[in-house]
Amino acid sequence: MQKLLLILCFLALSLADQYAVIAVGSNGYYNYRHQADACHAYQVLINHNIPKSNIIMMSYDDVPNALQNPFPGKLFNAPGNHSVDVNDGCIKDYIGADVTAKHFLNIIQGDELAMIGVGTGRVLKSGPNDHVFIYFVDHGASGVLSFPNTWLYNYQLIDAFTQMKAKGMYSQLTIYIEACYSGSMFDGVLKGNLNVYAVTAANATESSWGAYCPYEDFIDGIELDACLGDLFSVNWLENSDSANLTIETLDQQFDIAQSLTNLSHVSRYGNFSFVNETAGEFLGNLTDSLNFAGYEKSSNWESTEIKLNYLLHMYTKYQDPQYMEAILEEMEYRDKISGIFTQLALHFEMKYDADLMNAELRPLNTRCLEKNIMSFEQHCGNIKDYGLKYIQVLVNICEVGISNEETDSALKEICIL
Ligand SMILES: *[C@@H]1O[C@H](CO)[C@@H](O)[C@H](O)[C@H]1NC(C)=O
Ligand SMILES: *[C@@H]1O[C@H](CO)[C@@H](O)[C@H](O)[C@H]1NC(C)=O
Ligand SMILES: *[C@@H]1O[C@H](CO)[C@@H](O)[C@H](O)[C@H]1NC(C)=O
Ligand SMILES: *[C@@H]1O[C@H](CO)[C@@H](O)[C@H](O)[C@H]1NC(C)=O
Ligand SMILES: *[C@@H]1O[C@H](CO)[C@@H](O)[C@H](O)[C@H]1NC(C)=O
Ligand SMILES: *[C@@H]1O[C@H](CO)[C@@H](O)[C@H](O)[C@H]1NC(C)=O
Ligand SMILES: *[C@@H]1O[C@H](CO)[C@@H](O)[C@H](O)[C@H]1NC(C)=O
Repeated sequence: MQKLLLILCFLALSLADQYAVIAVGSNGYYNYRHQADACHAYQVLINHNIPKSNIIMMSYDDVPNALQNPFPGKLFNAPGNHSVDVNDGCIKDYIGADVTAKHFLNIIQGDELAMIGVGTGRVLKSGPNDHVFIYFVDHGASGVLSFPNTWLYNYQLIDAFTQMKAKGMYSQLTIYIEACYSGSMFDGVLKGNLNVYAVTAANATESSWGAYCPYEDFIDGIELDACLGDLFSVNWLENSDSANLTIETLDQQFDIAQSLTNLSHVSRYGNFSFVNETAGEFLGNLTDSLNFAGYEKSSNWESTEIKLNYLLHMYTKYQDPQYMEAILEEMEYRDKISGIFTQLALHFEMKYDADLMNAELRPLNTRCLEKNIMSFEQHCGNIKDYGLKYIQVLVNICEVGISNEETDSALKEICIL
């Protein structure tokens, strides 16, 4: 009997395969770094012998061929004269308008029917013994991640893990997220019983940071005018390029990424029971070492400021009036959005005796947040980039118990003006 169990155990171990899903939620040249991080992650996985057929990739894919890109068709995730084009061989399953939160959720839950006729139609096909690695990179806010034109709420991601677990789609799942406020996707909502280990670029209440920003953004002497990567992302990716992941554990990789990412608090949530397994159990194992050492990272831009910094950089460099126009437009947007949120907070403050503008309540009721964001976008326009930091106000409103109906009518009143 014991022998049989041992054999079964061994079979189970040897049948464990590794699968991965990589998703980028942004577009636009000024967000260059996200698509570069994602393709770099794709290269890490294939260099480490994860079969391409086990990797699914979503990326808007507009950056490689953007007009502003001095190296058409290429993406670099680190500066220098010998930098690697990470877009070379980076195969995307879903691009452009197919990159949505709904599709991402279908893909990770293996819902093949729902994806018929979309992109390559590929979905995660992992089984109960397998290891799944997910990497998401983009903008985020309290309780939510952003996709082009859609949002992914923390409750939706947790529900998807619950379904995946119930359907036997993994034995262990590791997810790395690069986004502002990314800790808020898990803090207080990801329970240990799902066997998910989540690492985030930032804690629940802070921005994450771009890396290799101007003037550290030169390739072969030519400036790219963009941040080439994100700080947490390039730290774990460069570690994966240079360390022996057959020996290095998830725990060790976390410590390394955390200590190198000195502008935000790299954090982790969920189930830590498998942190002493090797990172290779999720990222695969390299046959030859790349000996990639990384670069000095002293030019870092705070994620929420990157659009404005980019425009200022472009105007200073090229003196083209179109950038001055865009700067004025961005300043106007900032004034407008902070004005609306200030009024909204004031509107409720007396009645509920809470500092809705400055509190940092945990986003636990994100079904409520989802409705508030819908109301906001319906009455007041889209929330993007800089505006994401104010989503915390909508979270606070939900968490102190103000109803969606009350919020909707307040926003309608404020934004009609
Ligand atoms: C973490 O997962 C392990 C293995 O499935 C399980 O034994 C343990 O109870 C989980 N931890 C928590 C806190 O749920
Ligand atoms: C989260 O980050 C903020 C801003 O950097 C910091 O003040 C706070 O102490 C951090 N909290 C945790 C739990 O890391
Ligand atoms: C990198 O390449 C540029 C242009 O080819 C050259 O001017 C520069 O000196 C090179 N830098 C190094 C460190 O080799
Ligand atoms: C992982 O290893 C460290 C150091 O060897 C140990 O302190 C820790 O308890 C281990 N964690 C688990 C979950 O086994
Ligand atoms: C990497 O090595 C681990 C054992 O250290 C093994 O379980 C895993 O299947 C390997 N992955 C690949 C892609 O070779
Ligand atoms: C990584 O470590 C394993 C296990 O010790 C060893 O067999 C392998 O040669 C190492 N790989 C490299 C590239 O050093
Ligand atoms: C963070 O680390 C970099 C080294 O990569 C260093 O240049 C920078 O000054 C550090 N920043 C802070 C705020 O400690």
